[in-house]
Amino acid sequence: MKKIMVVVMGGTGLVGQQFVRLLDGHPYFELAAITASGRSAGRSYGQAMPWAVGGDIPERAARLEVLDTSLETVMSRAPDIVFSALPAAAAEGIEPALRERGVRVFSNAGCRRQDADVPVLIPEINPGHLELARRQQARYGGFIVTNSNCSTSGLALVLKPLEKFGLREVTVTTFQSISGAGRRGLASFDIAGNVIPWIKNEEEKMERESRKILGELTADGIRPASFPVSATCCRVPVREGHLMSVSVRFANGAGAADVAEALAAFRGVPQGLGLPTAPEQPIIVRPEEDRPQPALDAWAGRPERARGMAVSVGRIREKDGVLSLILLVHNTVRGAAGACVLGAELAAAEKLAG
Ligand SMILES: NC(=O)c1ccc[n+]([C@@H]2O[C@H](COP(=O)([O-])OP(=O)(O)OC[C@H]3O[C@@H](n4cnc5c(N)ncnc54)[C@H](OP(=O)(O)O)[C@@H]3O)[C@@H](O)[C@H]2O)c1
Repeated sequence: MKKIMVVVMGGTGLVGQQFVRLLDGHPYFELAAITASGRSAGRSYGQAMPWAVGGDIPERAARLEVLDTSLETVMSRAPDIVFSALPAAAAEGIEPALRERGVRVFSNAGCRRQDADVPVLIPEINPGHLELARRQQARYGGFIVTNSNCSTSGLALVLKPLEKFGLREVTVTTFQSISGAGRRGLASFDIAGNVIPWIKNEEEKMERESRKILGELTADGIRPASFPVSATCCRVPVREGHLMSVSVRFANGAGAADVAEALAAFRGVPQGLGLPTAPEQPIIVRPEEDRPQPALDAWAGRPERARGMAVSVGRIREKDGVLSLILLVHNTVRGAAGACVLGAELAAAEKLAG
């Protein structure tokens, strides 16, 4: 198979570094260029920032010169696919401009997630929403596919297998790691020995996006799922991995054992297709009383290429008609770069890219 040329925008940030790690030796994709802000442009990737995502910086990527992020520099590399790890303000202009030039954009930025023709793709949950990308392609030449906010990715993945019990109401409290605030967030947060009970726009994103992801595809876009979601989001002094306490009311009633079985048995289209970044088991149910923990479970998932792509769930309990559980998602892998790479693999398998 001829490799698909890709560019990573915002490649020096935490999500961008995860993209570069995941693209190293990827069987479908070839990294043609990395862009960042003017602060990093002109330097070699290896010199542009501290490598912060574990392991060694991939050798070939380390030698690439970081480019400025502009339509001209990106198009000069003639990419089929652009992976975007830009902040929303920087993504807003360039992503639609790339789409108009026929590029397939897979983005982490939050700015287009609520556009009627833009899917918020979680390949195991709503592969059919890629139909919206086809509709964009017919209109613009290219398309934008987004992934969800990082906490939503874990929550929605766990809600999908529970739909069959009739989701009536979902309440979630998050304990989110500092890497969710980006590379500079790691250094500057006044978080040691502290918990900050607010994260800008996070609760609204979780409430809106989960219902769009689990919504139904119609001729006009996505009709959101009808159950209400209430979120409370906190920043905690943890390096990576977002932990969540989730309570669900079901219309049909379901016990802890039914829920554990449904979660552990869940498989999606990426598993059926054997996509390279698909975890063999997307949801891992932990039987221990004190798991999952970010320090032990953030990198869950097999094979090696899918580490960090599985969501871990534990402490499944039912009391007075309320089902409670704890879940953990790797925010910069399943919640960001890994989700985009898996989405692009699905698009390639469905002949939408490449
Ligand atoms: N961190 C997470 O857990 C997470 C999860 C899901 C989604 N996201 C989203 O993913 C995106 C990236 O997040 P991150 O955590 O990786 O942020 P980050 O560590 O702050 O990295 C931001 C990247 O964007 C570049 N950049 C910043 N301003 C720019 C500008 N005006 N023009 C061009 N490039 C610019 C930076 O380049 P320099 O290094 O040169 O400044 C860097 O490469 C954001 O939209 C975020 O909301 C993050």
